[in-house]
Amino acid sequence: MRSAGAAYDGKTETGTVRRRFGTEETVKLKIGCISGDGIGPEIVGEARKVLERIAVRYGHEISWTDILLGGASIDAHGVPLTPEAVQAAKESDAVLMGSIGGDANTSPWYQLPPDRRPEAGLLAIRKELGLFANLRPALLYEELADACPLKKETSEAGFDLLIMRELTGGLYFGARKTTVENGLRTAVDTLVYNEYEIRRIAVKAFDIARKRRGKVTSVDKANVLDSSRLWRAVVNEVAADYPDVELSHMLVDNCAMQLVKDPAQFDVILTENMFGDILSDEASMVTGSIGMLASASLNDTKFGLYEPSHGSAPDIAGKDIANPIATILSAAMMLRYSFDLDEEADAVEGAVKQVLKEGFRTADIMPQKDAAGSGAACRKCSCSEMGSLIAERI
Ligand code: IPM
Ligand code: MG
Repeated sequence: MRSAGAAYDGKTETGTVRRRFGTEETVKLKIGCISGDGIGPEIVGEARKVLERIAVRYGHEISWTDILLGGASIDAHGVPLTPEAVQAAKESDAVLMGSIGGDANTSPWYQLPPDRRPEAGLLAIRKELGLFANLRPALLYEELADACPLKKETSEAGFDLLIMRELTGGLYFGARKTTVENGLRTAVDTLVYNEYEIRRIAVKAFDIARKRRGKVTSVDKANVLDSSRLWRAVVNEVAADYPDVELSHMLVDNCAMQLVKDPAQFDVILTENMFGDILSDEASMVTGSIGMLASASLNDTKFGLYEPSHGSAPDIAGKDIANPIATILSAAMMLRYSFDLDEEADAVEGAVKQVLKEGFRTADIMPQKDAAGSGAACRKCSCSEMGSLIAERI
């Protein structure tokens, strides 16, 4: 037995060897697990169920290390991220995460200074692990086309896009302060990018476009922002190395509009941190439910942190009604990107499609009772039932 999926320092070998020689070697998956807050523990529990099923079915071995982040870490240690948690993540081959944060109006976590709140822990772990590339695929499942809020002709055409969001730079990491200037409360945030940061995320976007439909749309606000003008210049330089990939540039306000008008025009959307944060929520909603969207946050090694694109939904926490599919699909991305286990990743994605085809739906994707069409054949299921149904189909 050996460890698969390169560790954070990139020194361990990856699972590709097993495939190349076609042997049935047992692969050991060392996975860090951040259940987090709100619905986090429930959805992560279902993703673990699915990964355990994969391990049995394909003869792999998983070791889990629980890691505290966000509100759960505040409750235990007073801070949203401890050095021990960072260390535990670094010692894993990959980290599976649920969601962090609570209700900002009622949770005591939000009485703390901003740098001690749950979200600060998430930003800090991304930075500590160097997770600069955030992949957020948004695709419309045929079975859920009814849930798509777009015009029928648009949903019928379908779409399959991927947002490549820069994750460790820009406004979310620049210097900020709130002061009083001339008697007026004044706040400043700074948006900084250097060419190295832009180049490395652009390279990731072009590389992945090559494996998809060969199209990159770089999104910026180059008609106003200096950081966007540099972004555009560097992306053009990177494009010179990818003559087989078609590059276009789009202003972010136009992109927000195009995503609801004609999402099928996009393959890979490459953009900076805040634009990607906003556009990925929009992209997920046009797929019908934010509960379906997976994400992977990667650095330059095989290590990755995998989490659903959605938040912790504290209003439905503990009720066993959340949709675990985004987290399960994030686990599939983990198999694919950190462990090179494509066949296993395909099996998970196939099982998700299968349960949808059979008509199983969690509450968020359940068609209205009186809706015409496929709705009639759908069966509502809980979070844990959905996890079991998917695991059983692997
Ligand atoms: C996301 C979230 C986070 C972000 C928050 C919770 C800090 O919105 O992952 O999209 O802005 O990155
Ligand atoms: Mg967000």
